Amino acid sequence: MTHSESHSTSRSTSNSPSQSDHNIHAEKILILDFGSQYTQLIARRVREIGVYCEIRVFDIDQAATDDFNPSAVILSGGPESVTKDDTHRVPQHIFDLAVPVLGICYGMQTMALQLGGKVEGSAEQEFGYARVCVRQPGELFRNIEDGKEGDSSFLDVWMSHGDKVVELPPGFKQLASTDTTEYAAMCDESRGYYGVQFHPEVNNTIQGMAILDRFIKVICQCECLWTPANIVEDLVADIRQQVGDRHVLLGLSGGVDSSVVAALLSRAIGDQLTCVFVDNGLLRLNEGQQVIDMLGKGSDNVFDLNIIAVDAEDLFLKKLSGVSDPEAKRKIIGNTFIEVFEEESHKIQDVQFLAQGTIYPDVIESAGHKDGKAHVIKSHHNVGGLPETMKLELVEPLRELFKDEVRKIGIELGLTDEIVFRHPFPGPGLGVRILGPVSKEYADLLRQADDIFIQELRNAGLYDKVSQAFAVFLPVKSVGVVGDARRYEYVIALRAVETIDFMTARWAHLPYEFLEKVSGRIINEIAGISRVTYDISSKPPATIEWE
Ligand code: XMP
Repeated sequence: MTHSESHSTSRSTSNSPSQSDHNIHAEKILILDFGSQYTQLIARRVREIGVYCEIRVFDIDQAATDDFNPSAVILSGGPESVTKDDTHRVPQHIFDLAVPVLGICYGMQTMALQLGGKVEGSAEQEFGYARVCVRQPGELFRNIEDGKEGDSSFLDVWMSHGDKVVELPPGFKQLASTDTTEYAAMCDESRGYYGVQFHPEVNNTIQGMAILDRFIKVICQCECLWTPANIVEDLVADIRQQVGDRHVLLGLSGGVDSSVVAALLSRAIGDQLTCVFVDNGLLRLNEGQQVIDMLGKGSDNVFDLNIIAVDAEDLFLKKLSGVSDPEAKRKIIGNTFIEVFEEESHKIQDVQFLAQGTIYPDVIESAGHKDGKAHVIKSHHNVGGLPETMKLELVEPLRELFKDEVRKIGIELGLTDEIVFRHPFPGPGLGVRILGPVSKEYADLLRQADDIFIQELRNAGLYDKVSQAFAVFLPVKSVGVVGDARRYEYVIALRAVETIDFMTARWAHLPYEFLEKVSGRIINEIAGISRVTYDISSKPPATIEWE
């Protein structure tokens, strides 16, 4: 299997008409990945504008390209230098497609070089903000500007490059320049080829979305059918087609992804879905009840799902008893989950499908370049990563979606903001937020502290401003004084981070008054806690979770 094939998703997105009224895959943009840290961002922007796109590794072969049948191609940036011979190039068949092509940064440089222009390393590298002077707008920049300097309009953009195009390929014209880069943007409108040296996909390029919007709507003439309502309609039709009148099983965790899968399947196949919700004793306060109230039967919600709630607290805590190594804890939690889930599934008759909340970044990640040398920092256990031994066919309706799209269709389906905009919660739950051995006593204390922290974040309007927040239980005792009495109890650490991708994160600078209030409430309201600390470690070098 080539890299390019390995990125493809399991659903056929070729030209077969969709079962729903709108064929959301009728127009598709192919994004060739040259290794930029922003490639996924390009894809998210294209989707936000309303066109389906997929990321493939740059060396896609002709058969895969033909099968995908793109309406346009975007070439990402990348860390290499086209001035070196053995670096990545666009396959020739892409230029033979006769569809618009937009090259971004490295993508522009390799396009220029391959089509007969010249690229050189530059003494003045440009990183960060730059002002681009628009020499002529062409179709790409028409009516788009941040302001005027003399007679020319300018754009404030984000640059990150060393090399630059020094000679345009035949047929191309200059669109824009900076003080140090003569060709900051170029085009050959007769062929629909465009190149920008800056990054329109990042927020720091103020008109970035407007530029991508013009490329997609005006230059590629896309209708933009990729909308939450159309996606839901299409997914529902697909699920019905795949499942027919058979039965599906879903491990429901209460997280965004599995809740959205549940809501979608409920709309598509109603009672043919059974969910298993496992309470492993490591959930947040009232979490199980909330999920059942929200999605289960007997409540006045629209979902009305069959949910089998399994109380497996004792089993999990028994297996975890005395285990202090974080990786060992993760493995025990993951394996026990599978054990419980399998046992429950055997009790249900006639199940042919297992539904999973796999999302597009998981698909890209598991198919991307891997040198096999990466260190395992943490082995993630997800409720989603379920048992091959079950011999069930998979239903993975979110396989093509980014997290922000999953949230949008969750809202479209009628899930509450509380579920949809919830902070991520790791599969092993409080198991990795209680340092060392886990016990019910510790989990109960932690649940209360965590609940106070989250309540107060919501009250202060801070919950949605941080990406993830939680409490951590430290099994060390510290002296305190409450009233006139001495206390010798445990410590809680509060953690809140801001991040876009959870790969790097900054500790959230929460107001002191806020932290004071939370710490006061935790110490006063929870008898077993005598001290609260705030974690001021960023990632890297720390990780977000403490274990
Ligand atoms: P770290 O701690 O690695 O966390 O900086 C990054 C993000 O991943 C979440 N996380 C997990 N999610 N299973 C999961 O499903 C896990 O084992 C796991 N460990 C960490 C973490 O909450 C954060 O959002």
